Amino acid sequence: MILSKIKKHIFLFLVRLKQKKTITHLLAQDNPLLTIIVESFLQLKYNKLSITDDSIFEACEKYRNQLLQDDTVISFEIFGSNKTMLVKDICEKAASKPIWAQFLYLITKRLTSPHFLEIGTNLGVSGTYILEALKHKKDSKLYTMEGLPQLCEIAQNQFAKISIHSKYKIYKGLYKNTFSKLLIDDNNYNIVFIDGNHKKEPTIKYFIDLQAKLSSPAIIIFDDINWSLDMQKAWEIIKSNKNVTYSIDMFKFGILIFDKNSNNKKADYKLHLAY
Ligand SMILES: C[S@@+](CC[C@H](N)C(=O)[O-])C[C@H]1O[C@@H](n2cnc3c(N)ncnc32)[C@H](O)[C@@H]1O
Repeated sequence: MILSKIKKHIFLFLVRLKQKKTITHLLAQDNPLLTIIVESFLQLKYNKLSITDDSIFEACEKYRNQLLQDDTVISFEIFGSNKTMLVKDICEKAASKPIWAQFLYLITKRLTSPHFLEIGTNLGVSGTYILEALKHKKDSKLYTMEGLPQLCEIAQNQFAKISIHSKYKIYKGLYKNTFSKLLIDDNNYNIVFIDGNHKKEPTIKYFIDLQAKLSSPAIIIFDDINWSLDMQKAWEIIKSNKNVTYSIDMFKFGILIFDKNSNNKKADYKLHLAY
């Protein structure tokens, strides 16, 4: 535990030391998606948010705060478990923290027609930010997947407060049943957030299978790439895939860009947004 904390801090210290240079390199690639990521990163890192963004973030955090006081009991029966948890504890444990959800929002907002796939709806906290970013865009939609029926219902109620129904779809059920449906559905995605099942084999499988559903160019964001040794191994395998044009390791998020039209040499970067 202490060793992994030390490793994390050394990693982040070294990343921060080179950050200016890295950003110059990233921008010099002149790749539209890479530029979107860097601009979103800089906006958040240096707190250059517009008044509109600030007030949207405030509204999103109101939803989180409401969940953090919710004593509803959630059953994990669908996973074959007797476990129960309170909504407030699930929110504390599983929902993306504000800075990472805001990063997703800023990236999504910069895309012209985001077709966003999220694996791991949970209570819809990250989904709230994503939907806020795309709700006024013409050709755009959030697709999100969740196994626990009660969480699907809570997220759905929240999404209905933000946007019209045609802007989002929740694939309800265990991924082993819904993922195959998603693969045959007539949708392609230009941004994917993989935050469902933080294990090596499923993470690699989502990555491999989803490549057929990506438009080009596209962004894939993995959450918690350093959550365990298994996730670290998964990230190493994933980022070396021949179809990946760029990778950015943010210690928490691992971001990939797929761009069939890029003639640039494959490159790996590291950035530090938050601890
Ligand atoms: C980390 S949470 C997602 C958090 C959410 N993206 C956010 O930031 O607000 C992961 C979710 O994936 C769901 N999940 C994990 N494994 C699953 C599976 N095999 N089938 C269906 N849902 C699953 C869990 O129930 C949980 O709600």
